Amino acid sequence: MAKQNSVIAPSILSANFAKLGEEVDNVLAAGADWVHFDVMDNHYVPNLTIGPLVCEALRKHGVTAPIDVHLMVKPVDRIVPDFAKAGASLISFHPEASDHIDRTLGLIRDSGCKAGLVFNPATPLSYLDYVLDKVDLVLIMSVNPGFGGQSFIPAALEKLRRAREIIDRSGRAIRIEVDGGVKVENAAEVARAGADTFVSGSAIFGQKDYRSVVAAMRSAIDNA
Ligand code: DX5
Ligand code: ZN
Repeated sequence: MAKQNSVIAPSILSANFAKLGEEVDNVLAAGADWVHFDVMDNHYVPNLTIGPLVCEALRKHGVTAPIDVHLMVKPVDRIVPDFAKAGASLISFHPEASDHIDRTLGLIRDSGCKAGLVFNPATPLSYLDYVLDKVDLVLIMSVNPGFGGQSFIPAALEKLRRAREIIDRSGRAIRIEVDGGVKVENAAEVARAGADTFVSGSAIFGQKDYRSVVAAMRSAIDNA
């Protein structure tokens, strides 16, 4: 299975929430592919962000790009149908937050969304062993979840390489996404390690000109 087209998914956690619709329109017009939507519950992670109402509001505002929902919540299952109804395209969750991982993956797909499994820096990839046929996306965290603007943890590179081996060996069209501390300066190295989907929050929304940072990141990835 050849590596899939690269996807840049700006994390709206670092956007200006007071004008979120405009921020999302601008970053998509600047060349981004997906909207990365970080959901935190002040329980599974020590921060509190946005829920299905905001996802639905973005759809009503006219956003048609894939919305990539990253659930950092516990429990997981209760909120999955709400996000599917609110217009999520992909829903990813942390295996430690679900008592029945296989069931949660099935629930996400049955709701009409693509399903992703998220790996914290210390979470082993062995969680994939018996569920590869139910996973559309593997998300490797390169920071501990909860906050934007943290530094990339270098051990994530080795984990990306391992994940790439597992996915390639399986022959399945599973995306490998990386999240945390990704910026123009390290995007090529991250791409070479095996990622095809790049979440980036502060490195994109922290710049005035979204178009030039998205273009620089794309060229770093495509020339890696
Ligand atoms: C962290 C979130 C990330 C975060 C990334 O828990 O999952 O998506 O917004 O932000 P940066 O790119 O600033 O590290
Ligand atoms: Zn995220």
